[in-house]
Order: sequence, then C-alpha cells, then structure tokens
Amino acid sequence: MAASIATVQTVKDLRTEVAKWRKAGETIALVPTMGALHAGHLSLVAVAKSRAKRIVVSIFVNPTQFGPKEDFKRYPRDEAGDLAKLTQAGTHLVYIPDMEEMYPQGFATKVSLPSLTEDLCGAARPNHFEGVATVVTKLLLQCASDVAVFGEKDYQQLLVIKQLVRDLNIPVEIVAAPIVREEDGLALSSRNFYLSPSERTTAPILHQVLSEVATALASGEGCDATSSAGRFKLEGKGFRVDYVAVRDPETLAPLFGPIRGPARVMGAVYLGTTRLIDNVPTAPKSR
Ligand code: PAF
Repeated sequence: MAASIATVQTVKDLRTEVAKWRKAGETIALVPTMGALHAGHLSLVAVAKSRAKRIVVSIFVNPTQFGPKEDFKRYPRDEAGDLAKLTQAGTHLVYIPDMEEMYPQGFATKVSLPSLTEDLCGAARPNHFEGVATVVTKLLLQCASDVAVFGEKDYQQLLVIKQLVRDLNIPVEIVAAPIVREEDGLALSSRNFYLSPSERTTAPILHQVLSEVATALASGEGCDATSSAGRFKLEGKGFRVDYVAVRDPETLAPLFGPIRGPARVMGAVYLGTTRLIDNVPTAPKSR
C-alpha cells in the first residue's frame, strides 16, 4: 500500500513545512485546486514537478467564487480519492484549509480587477473573479512558493491571476499548463461530472466548433463572421450559448476583422444547467 501523503490544515503548519524545504535549498511549486481531481489537475502536478523540487497541492472549495444560484453545495468533493491520486502523482504536501482558516470572522479584504473581469465569464458570473482573485492571492501568500501552476482551460482566470501577481508584486512565477482533453476533444472539468449521457455526447461539439472558428480565422476570415457562425452552429446543436469570442491572448481585448497576430477563441455554453467553457489558440497562416 502507498504511504499516506502528508497533509496540513493551517497556514502555520503549511509555512513550517515550506520553511524546511527552503532551508534545504529546495524549490517549491503550488498547484491550487478545488479538489474532485481528474487527469487535468494531475497534468498541473506534472508541470509543477518539471519546475520545482517540492510540490504542494491545495484543496479548498472556495465559496466566494460561486454565485448564490451556482453549484457550491453540490460541487463534487472526494478528499480520500484526491489524496490517493496526489500520492500516486508524487505530490509532497496537500494543504486542506477549512473555512475558518481561509475566511476567519471579520475577514474584509477583496481583490478585484474590474477591467479584466467585466465581460466574458465575468458578465454571467458577477463576483466570480473577485472570489478567485481573493482566494488565489491568499494561497500564494500563504504558501510563498517559487512557482504556481494554473490550467489554460480557465483562460480568463489565468490572465486575472497573472495580472494580480504583477500588480501586487507577489514573488511567484505563474506557469500556464495546456488543456487536457478527452479523446473526443471535451476539455476535462470537474463539472463534466454533471452531464447526462446525452449531454456528454453533445459536449465535445463545443471544442469542435471553437476549433473551426480558429481555422477560419487562421485562413483570413473576420472575427465577427466566424464567431457568429460558431454561435449559430452551437445553438443548432442544442447548446445555450453565453459567448463565442475572439480575443487578444495577452489582454483579452476584443479583436475585429481578420486577425493579424495570435488570438484566442473562447466560448462558454450551457448544456441543461451545466456551464462549460473552452478555448483554443489561433494565429494567421503565413501567406
Ligand atoms: O481553478 C480552480 O480550480 C479555482 O478557481 C482555483 C484557482 C483553485 C481558486 O479557487
């Protein structure tokens, strides 16, 4: 049987463990998660291992990033399964703070980046990114790792985190990890767990359509026409579309007309009550 993995619940114990590694001259990577771990999270651990000697994974289902009508209560939780997967993946320490440790009585600070979060997912999920930015700032400061790894699937989140680290001079390198997909193209997500069998059959069409938009953009078609065509196709397949958008990959600024440099095609849809997001990179074909 595999040895049981080390866990800590408090900032004090986390810092004690991290300090031992620092004293030994070892580098540290943090992988923040909300648990219910799948192969996508384990790929973040693999990226972390390529960047640092010691790996800390945090598990905290952060209530402040869920809207009042969202799935905080039913968000999947499987601590025993998560610990088994993290042991297997070679994680050194799992940080599992409770609510009181993260948001003690009287907690009053919010980290907010309005210019990056008012549209795309931020428009449909008001306060979501403020919750993410606040909890990630806390996790980064609590762990004080050299590196922290986030997935490109939550692309707007990734840019929010890069920006807050720059703005607040947090001494950590943010590393982006590529999206991990099922064989049929569906991006791995803990929320895929909610899909009914027929929704699961439809879900990969999101990636197919975003990829088609990316191909059309690469061959010189305009942003508006391609994203509208993408939206139309998705609606025809039974998705309720929140957005299909073509954005600058560094700033998320909207792009217009044929693209002249790299771009990100981003989409958010609902299948039943499940919200799915995905994105694909593109760039003009050299002609
Ligand atoms: O991407 C997630 O799982 C969460 O938004 C994060 C970064 C762990 C913050 O709660």
